[in-house]
Amino acid sequence: MSNKRVTLKARQVSFAWDDTPLHWLPDDPFTTHTINVLHLLLPAGERWFVHVYKQVLPFIRDDRLREDVIGFIGQEAMHSQAHDEVLPHLREQGLDPTPYTAQVDWFFEKLLGDRTLPPGRARQWWLMERVALIAAIEHYTAFLGNWVLNADELDRRGADPTMLDLLRWHGAEEVEHRSVAFELFMHLDGGYRRRARTWATAFTALIFLWQRGARFFMENDPTLLDGKASFKAFYRGGKEGVLPSTGDMLRSIPRYLSRGYHPEQEGDTEQAVAYLATSPAATAAEAREGAAR
Ligand SMILES: [Fe+2]
Ligand SMILES: [Fe+2]
Repeated sequence: MSNKRVTLKARQVSFAWDDTPLHWLPDDPFTTHTINVLHLLLPAGERWFVHVYKQVLPFIRDDRLREDVIGFIGQEAMHSQAHDEVLPHLREQGLDPTPYTAQVDWFFEKLLGDRTLPPGRARQWWLMERVALIAAIEHYTAFLGNWVLNADELDRRGADPTMLDLLRWHGAEEVEHRSVAFELFMHLDGGYRRRARTWATAFTALIFLWQRGARFFMENDPTLLDGKASFKAFYRGGKEGVLPSTGDMLRSIPRYLSRGYHPEQEGDTEQAVAYLATSPAATAAEAREGAAR
């Protein structure tokens, strides 16, 4: 395992969705839709990361960290866009996500947006609270990125190659930049009580939004008569290796809450970089950039 620091750059990927079936994991609508929730949460969520971090840049007193945060902003903006581009394809297949994405937009833009606060302590408190929330969420994006890079069962079951590449390109960049949000939080605040409190908020919100999203997709899938999402199905998917396992998820909690936590301990930079060197979307982006230079 190697975790040497890499310079973060945004790869300008694009994906063609025309050949991707509605159930991109064959005969498994539940797993397909559980993972599809990413396309609902990430566009608004990652746009919100970028929005918050742009406000934070002037407070960073470390040049290397500032450079990392700028690289992080570029990557997250691209992730948000790439997941957003899946939504018209779902709509064409009869699955209109608008009722759900409208709620997610409200959640990130209004509930977690800039409140009308006077400059000073309250405004600073709310900014730090959001910086800490992002660090907690990034614990999970790194967890998921590391998971999908190693989820060979998806290949064995014939998952759509374009969707797998989107998930693994994104997952690899999450592993690549997994330390940035936590290091930024430690640099600006680092309070343990804030870390624990915002972890609880982030974890609760993620579980809540995720299960609602999976249920939304299952209930509105035009090919399913009685589509349901359940914890039992999630647990089974984890056992079979097509979803993260419940045990791994539970074990990740004390790691984030331990005083010695550092995201370096999660995932493998070398594996992420190796995937990006062979990813169809990332290599095509690189070739386009090379031709434009
Ligand atoms: Fe991301
Ligand atoms: Fe990220």
